[in-house]
Amino acid sequence: MNELCAALLGFALGSIPFGLILTKMAGLGDVREIGSGSIGATNVLRTGNKGLAAATVLLDAAKGAVPVLIAEHFLSGTGGIAAVAAVAGHCFTPWLKFKGGKGFATAAGVLLAMAWPVMLVCAAIWAATLAVSRISSVSSMTTVVAAPIAAWAMGYPEVIVPLIAVAIIVLIQHRANIGRLMRGEEPKVGSKS
Ligand code: G3P
Repeated sequence: MNELCAALLGFALGSIPFGLILTKMAGLGDVREIGSGSIGATNVLRTGNKGLAAATVLLDAAKGAVPVLIAEHFLSGTGGIAAVAAVAGHCFTPWLKFKGGKGFATAAGVLLAMAWPVMLVCAAIWAATLAVSRISSVSSMTTVVAAPIAAWAMGYPEVIVPLIAVAIIVLIQHRANIGRLMRGEEPKVGSKS
C-alpha cells in the first residue's frame, strides 16, 4: 500500500508541466511548438527568457525531490519508487496526452533527495560535460548514466536500482536528441533552434 501511494504521489507531482505553465503565463506561447518540443528548461531557454528557464529547473527538480522526501519519511522508505514515478510523470504526463519532457531536472531533484553527496558529484559531471560539449542533451545523458555508477562507488547501494530505472527513462526520452547528435544537427546551449 505504501508502495502504491509513493508511486501515485510521485507520478502526480511529476506530471505537473511547469515549463509549459510558466511559458504560457509569461505570454510566450506553447513551448512545445519551438525547438525540441520539450517542456523542459533547455527548451524554455530557447524562448530567450533565462529567468523562466531557471524557474523551470527549480520547479521540475522540486517536484522530484518533494515526493521522494515524503515517501522516504512517511511511506516506509519508499523514496526510490516515488523517484522513478516522478520522472515518469514528467516524461509521460497525462495532462499532455502522455508526452512531456526529458526528465533530467526532475531526475536531479530525486537524486538530491535520495543521496545528496552523489548529487554533488553528478552536478560536477554535468557541469564538466556541458562545458566541454556545450550541448545540453550530451551532459544530461552522460550524467544519468554516471549517476548509478557514482552511487555504487560512493556507497549508496539502495539508490542504484531507482537510478538505473531513471536513466533508462531519461535515455528513452532523448531518442530524438541521439538521432540529431548522430546527424550532427543537435543545437548548442543558447541556440534558438
Ligand atoms: O535536459 C534536457 C536536455 O537534455 C535536452 O533538451 O530541449 O535540447 O531536447 P532539448
